[in-house]
Amino acid sequence: MSTFKIPLHKPFWGREEEKAAILAMRSGTGVGDLSFSENLSEELKQSLNVAYALPTGSGTAALELACDSLLKKDDEVIVPSFTFSSCANAIILAGAKPIFCDIDINTYNIDPAALEKLINKKTKAIMVVHYAGFACDMDKILNIARKNKLYVIEDAAHALGASYKDKKLGTIGDVGCFSFHGTKNVASGEGGAFVTNEKKISHIAEIIREKGTNRSAFMRGERKKYTWVHVGKSLILSDILSAIALEQIKKLDTITMMRRKSASYMLSRLEKINSKLILPHEPDNVYGNWHIFAIRVPRLVRDHLIKRLRAYGIEASFHYLPLHSSKMGAKLGYKVGDLPVTEEVSATLVRLPMYPGLKKSEIDYIAAVIKKILL
Ligand SMILES: Cc1ncc(COP(=O)(O)O)c(C=O)c1O
Repeated sequence: MSTFKIPLHKPFWGREEEKAAILAMRSGTGVGDLSFSENLSEELKQSLNVAYALPTGSGTAALELACDSLLKKDDEVIVPSFTFSSCANAIILAGAKPIFCDIDINTYNIDPAALEKLINKKTKAIMVVHYAGFACDMDKILNIARKNKLYVIEDAAHALGASYKDKKLGTIGDVGCFSFHGTKNVASGEGGAFVTNEKKISHIAEIIREKGTNRSAFMRGERKKYTWVHVGKSLILSDILSAIALEQIKKLDTITMMRRKSASYMLSRLEKINSKLILPHEPDNVYGNWHIFAIRVPRLVRDHLIKRLRAYGIEASFHYLPLHSSKMGAKLGYKVGDLPVTEEVSATLVRLPMYPGLKKSEIDYIAAVIKKILL
């Protein structure tokens, strides 16, 4: 339990998730790819309108599956530095090299113009991250990818329920990776999913996901036996967690609407405070799911604001220390100063609580405390 009066996240769990978890425990061993995982896969395919959906043990596992399926040794993948370590780890573990790219100052998403400059003969893929559940500039990114014959891997860990020009995020590129981590909009504690419309990609991914065996085909009755056919990992999701994720996906529209309502009220309260606050906004053609509600303030004020908010019982936080300026980033040859927009956003961003059921009175309290600290 969080010790904060208003935590940063709160899973939207009810009796349905509890009942489903118990049912899954009573009906099997909890291993992956039993009936609840199959139903989760079907629900994902239908709700996202994709051909293939593989539940995974985490969003990280889905990213590793994407990279292991698409990349080979010494390929380069362009990825924002303003993201979680899982993105770069997945690229490196596949034998490839992450090439860090700067972001757009307004959306905090990968900057297509900066991206294009990083392409060379070794580039094999672009990994985009839909930060906070708001779409990257996918038209520009797909154009660049097509022109240069690159894969597009969508890290949609934040983005279930969000869309771009009416297309669901995670289904626009070659593969999409979702997270059902306990902090995400759809939460099963740990969990994730890998989706694609490409049969060839799905075929290799389902083998890698099942320890390098063709067990998935065997389970579908397509083979008499299964055996080791490729290098693989154990990336499947327990049926117990699939049961919880399935109930959550059924509530996705409700979860998204509740977040949008809370975010809209938060914006209306914060707009009145101070012109120094940079507030988040929904760009044209983008339908956001408000996974994250992040404001920006001057550098000198940022840490003080977070500290004071926390003292008032509000779990505010910084978000994403850039990968390029991390200890591991240095080992890859990067240094502070390499990606100025990323560094500016990271140094000025404050994440505020956002979850379904965040009350108007709590939002009033958050706004009043911010006003008190900043004035
Ligand atoms: C952008 C992004 N990608 C991937 C992940 C990893 O997801 P998971 O925690 O489910 O492994 C995270 C985690 O928060 C994330 O923020």
